[in-house]
Amino acid sequence: MTSHDSAPAIDCGACRLRPWREDDAAALVPLADDAEVSRGLADRFPYPYTDADARTFLRMAIARPREFFAVEVGGALAGGFGIRPGEDVYRLNATLGYWLGRAWWGRGLMSAALRGYTEYAFRAFGYQRLQAMVNVNNPASARVLQKCGYLLEGTLRRAAYKRGALVDVWIYARLRDGAAP
Ligand SMILES: CC(C)(COP(=O)(O)OP(=O)(O)OC[C@H]1O[C@@H](n2cnc3c(N)ncnc32)[C@H](O)[C@@H]1OP(=O)(O)O)[C@@H](O)C(=O)NCCC(=O)NCCS
Repeated sequence: MTSHDSAPAIDCGACRLRPWREDDAAALVPLADDAEVSRGLADRFPYPYTDADARTFLRMAIARPREFFAVEVGGALAGGFGIRPGEDVYRLNATLGYWLGRAWWGRGLMSAALRGYTEYAFRAFGYQRLQAMVNVNNPASARVLQKCGYLLEGTLRRAAYKRGALVDVWIYARLRDGAAP
């Protein structure tokens, strides 16, 4: 771990998770403005993705550097990685979300990022459980989770409504001590 403005940066080997910066906007828009990237993401990741969307996102992400990370490869912005901590009785778990620009797909980068973040988060925080929700039409994301030791716990039927269609959603989770479901 290194530091940038006292927020964490996480070395994941093939890539690095670091806090977002205002000057990421120019690189962020062309990566994010892609219907194939947003297809498996929540609608709060819009398509088309405009300069104004990038500015709004960066304002929020820069204010929460322990929850929103830029994925960087050799100094170049490649995508984003975020964590939403649970609340109330769910406060010992957190939900992960991630994406890469299309040119970066298929090189093992998100598997490295997720592996690195998972180890970091269990070491640095008191989480008992990390989880991710994956639309069933997104097998690449499910594979990333499987490769990082996340287990499929079930299918949430018709849980998402994306681009005019109801989609079943897989829920994957990894526990602090690696316990099987
Ligand atoms: C999902 C995503 C982050 C994966 O990132 P990535 O760096 O390409 O993933 P990796 O290269 O680490 O691993 C991908 C794995 O999925 C596999 N895969 C890719 N496409 C697949 C498909 N259509 N069916 C089955 N497996 C597939 C790859 O072969 C690889 O597995 P392997 O190492 O066993 O061969 C990337 O595709 C992306 O950004 N998608 C758009 C945003 C998104 O959907 N985010 C996830 C929301 S839950």
